[in-house]
Amino acid sequence: MTTFHIHGGIPLQGKVRIQGSKNAALPILAATLLTGDASDIRNCPQIADVQHMVSLLQSLGCRVRRSGDGYLVDSARAGACNMSGDAITGMRSSLCLLGAMLGRFGEVTMEHPGGCVIGKRPIDLHLKALGKMGVSFTEEDGRLIGRVNRLRGADIRLSISSVGATENILLAAVQAEGDTTITGAAREPEVEALCRYLTACGAHIEGIGSSILGIKGGTPLHGAEFTVPADRIVAGTYLFACVGCGGSVLLENAPCGQLEAVIQTAERMGARCQMDGREGGDGIYGADYGYESGLYVQAPERPHALARLRTAVYPGFPTDLQSMALTVLTRADGKSCVEETIFEDRFRVVDSLRSMGADIEHYTQNIVLVRGVSSLRGAKVEARELRGGAALVLAGLMAEGESEITGCAYIERGYENIGKDLRDLGARIVSV
Ligand code: UD1
Repeated sequence: MTTFHIHGGIPLQGKVRIQGSKNAALPILAATLLTGDASDIRNCPQIADVQHMVSLLQSLGCRVRRSGDGYLVDSARAGACNMSGDAITGMRSSLCLLGAMLGRFGEVTMEHPGGCVIGKRPIDLHLKALGKMGVSFTEEDGRLIGRVNRLRGADIRLSISSVGATENILLAAVQAEGDTTITGAAREPEVEALCRYLTACGAHIEGIGSSILGIKGGTPLHGAEFTVPADRIVAGTYLFACVGCGGSVLLENAPCGQLEAVIQTAERMGARCQMDGREGGDGIYGADYGYESGLYVQAPERPHALARLRTAVYPGFPTDLQSMALTVLTRADGKSCVEETIFEDRFRVVDSLRSMGADIEHYTQNIVLVRGVSSLRGAKVEARELRGGAALVLAGLMAEGESEITGCAYIERGYENIGKDLRDLGARIVSV
């Protein structure tokens, strides 16, 4: 497993291009299975989870070829098979193959999907919704088996706004007989991107971007060309890296429209942000960067404490950036309170941050209180999940002295080249 060695305490300066979105690319790649045709999916990040999805599609008989910055996927000859192994159990997004396989073949057999350990992460909503569409599920030897003669449209009300369940229902609904309505659908941009790919393939979906989606089932699908949007979580990670370390950066290509709550949070921390095309005219960094498109960030001298930061479903502050914001607040000029509302075990970085000198105490299981310290000190810590691992890299960059982050394979599941990106911003970070 990769280890990062970081010499911290250096302000960030420069520009970095934001990769394609992992969480958008994965369900879209799964959706190519539905078309029985060739699709050209561009701007796919080169990360382990995407490689896994590609291997799964290949194991189902799809022809997949790297082309430019994306993949050409031809699912004409795909057939149902038993999906098992690391690519299923090690990756939460393999779960979208559930809806895609049922949509294409009417059957699926897969080991229980894994993913980052950030809570219990049940799949009851997926199973209940697909059950309403006619699928019967059984479990044999730890494998989940789903079968349906003919998927039928249904009125589905999600009690929790689940991204994955919304995606699975969409994937099944476009192939079902009759119409489906999803009430309480997740509004995350990755769901919207999936809807846009499916409509490019010929599907009829109403209410895209809202919490009520109407899907007309059974429209014949064909392949399509689609460009995956930039990754809002990667952009947010580098934004907070800058706020925590000081300096000023340009995040080229950052999806500013999807980052409003994140940008507002950075501004409350004292950063100055400028979204290209929003404020026009003289940018705060225009002279340095020649008005390139993206998000310009200028860090404050020291981050301001936040009386309250609370994660929420989109368009609220994303749970996937909570650990990074928490890390920045360890050096803030006062006391902050951070509340996690989406997952129940998402403060796994707290012990590592404490070993670096942070002053954090649990108020409840889902709320922590942070008293800002003047600086963190370098330490040897271990990444134990993707986003928490990225937050430890930020902590290493912010800390005085040397840090060693082990377990970085977790981080590489979501970041194409976090070490190089940060080096391009002037950080001293090497991977071994
Ligand atoms: C996706 C993202 C993940 C992000 C999360 C929330 C991918 C690959 N992952 O995960 O990065 O952190 O959205 O924005 O896109 N739940 C249930 N039963 C279910 C399904 C979910 O109780 O059947 C609960 C979960 O435990 C969680 C909440 O619903 O508390 C939201 O989870 P969900 O939106 O489904 O997250 P994922 O799709 O797994």
